[in-house]
Amino acid sequence: MTYHPKVIPAQYNHSNIDSDEMLYYVDRDFMSRTGIGPSYISLHPSEIPHGPHPGTYEASIGKKETHELAVMIDTFNTLQITEEAMKIDDGKYFKSWLLH
Ligand SMILES: [Fe+2]
Repeated sequence: MTYHPKVIPAQYNHSNIDSDEMLYYVDRDFMSRTGIGPSYISLHPSEIPHGPHPGTYEASIGKKETHELAVMIDTFNTLQITEEAMKIDDGKYFKSWLLH
């Protein structure tokens, strides 16, 4: 967390150009995501833009801390998605940046 008085705590939108990014959401409230609960896993493949969900960026302004526990892994090699992983895909995460 950054402590400058005018900081916007939620991370800006970005693309990982040299790695895939996998996030495992362990516990509590996830500031930058909506509809995410404990044990959720997300994958942001290299070069695909991603960031806070609509509204969470603005909602983070003024927050001094987060109450979340997640593990992020940036890989050196491209991840291969297994058939088992495809079975637990919710089929809607990639649409979660669309405004409703
Ligand atoms: Fe990221």
